Amino acid sequence: MPIRVAIAGVGNCASALVQGVEMYKHKPEVEPFVAFKKVGAYAVSDITFTAAFDIDARKVGRDLAEAIFSPPNNATKVFEPQKLGVIVRAGPLLDGRPEGGLVEKVVEGTVEDVVRELESTNTEVLVNYLPTGARRAAEAYAEASLRARVAFINAMPAPIATNEVWQKRFIEREVPLLGDDTQNQIGATVLHKMLIHLLNLRGVRIFDTYQINVGGTPDFANLMYRRTDKEKTKTAAVKKMADDQDFKAYIAPVAYIPFLNDRKIAHMLIEGAIFGGVPITIRVELDVHDAWNSAAIVTDAIRLAKLALDRHIGGPIYSASAWGFKNPPIHMPPEEAYKAVIEFINGERNN
Ligand SMILES: NC(=O)c1ccc[n+]([C@@H]2O[C@H](COP(=O)([O-])OP(=O)(O)OC[C@H]3O[C@@H](n4cnc5c(N)ncnc54)[C@H](O)[C@@H]3O)[C@@H](O)[C@H]2O)c1
Repeated sequence: MPIRVAIAGVGNCASALVQGVEMYKHKPEVEPFVAFKKVGAYAVSDITFTAAFDIDARKVGRDLAEAIFSPPNNATKVFEPQKLGVIVRAGPLLDGRPEGGLVEKVVEGTVEDVVRELESTNTEVLVNYLPTGARRAAEAYAEASLRARVAFINAMPAPIATNEVWQKRFIEREVPLLGDDTQNQIGATVLHKMLIHLLNLRGVRIFDTYQINVGGTPDFANLMYRRTDKEKTKTAAVKKMADDQDFKAYIAPVAYIPFLNDRKIAHMLIEGAIFGGVPITIRVELDVHDAWNSAAIVTDAIRLAKLALDRHIGGPIYSASAWGFKNPPIHMPPEEAYKAVIEFINGERNN
């Protein structure tokens, strides 16, 4: 059964998602490395792209299969999909234009254009991949989702799934809402969270921690100017794992280094004390293809959103949000979120 999916923001994350889904569809012998091979009846290959929106003149008007390789995108190329018959349409710009000067010419559409496209393509799920800091544009797509009654996945840090007003509106319209800000398959956030969770569980006193990220994607170029929302979602994710401890946390993406391309390198430090007040220091370095690291989790989120639609469940999907996002309405350690998702899939919990 196909799941009809639209994308807002045809950047690097969209590129990895489209490449990956199309690869698994056209090469069924290749095993997808995801936590959930099936979500209910749905496999990764059931995801079908139906609409896409951007504001970069180099992407608007092109087939989605080509637009994902248009500059400034630089996600690693693993698979070249054939034309999908999905033309990228112009969406509302508002504060969407990424900082850093990588988008020169902009084409604008309206919220009404987005609603019309979602409705005419019978889209079921919209994934919001807008640049960090584009709060008003993110809200415009959330609004379009509500009007078209399309499930909304907020893959970026603007507070939508964590905002009470949006939560209420999605409950009233019976439209599923997932977010905020994708938590990568094995990214800096989930690794950092697990370490803090483990130290807390084992009775270690945590004094302070930092996480510094460098990368060469347009996302990093934008984050050099607008990283407040990202700092908030990343810091909340880590601090919630040891809520009862008062420790200092500096968690920020800090440098755009163009030659790193799609690589992201995260450096983490945790300082604390064990039994006897004796000091302990943990240093971690993670080197990963950033855009690809987000795609598996988004395939889970899309399939969980579809399950919610099938069951006529609207509003925040707490289990799926805790599993797939840095700043969900309810924070859970990964193993608890995993269990909640299994219960949701099995129909043992509502959302
Ligand atoms: N692993 C990851 O890369 C990762 C993980 C978690 C969250 N995120 C978040 O996901 C978002 C997308 O990341 P990315 O690497 O794909 O970024 P990107 O900069 O490559 O892509 C953003 C796209 O949005 C387009 N855009 C800007 N304003 C728009 C508007 N108003 N309407 C439609 N399109 C618009 C841009 O032209 C660009 O194509 C970012 O906010 C990022 O922080 C990324």
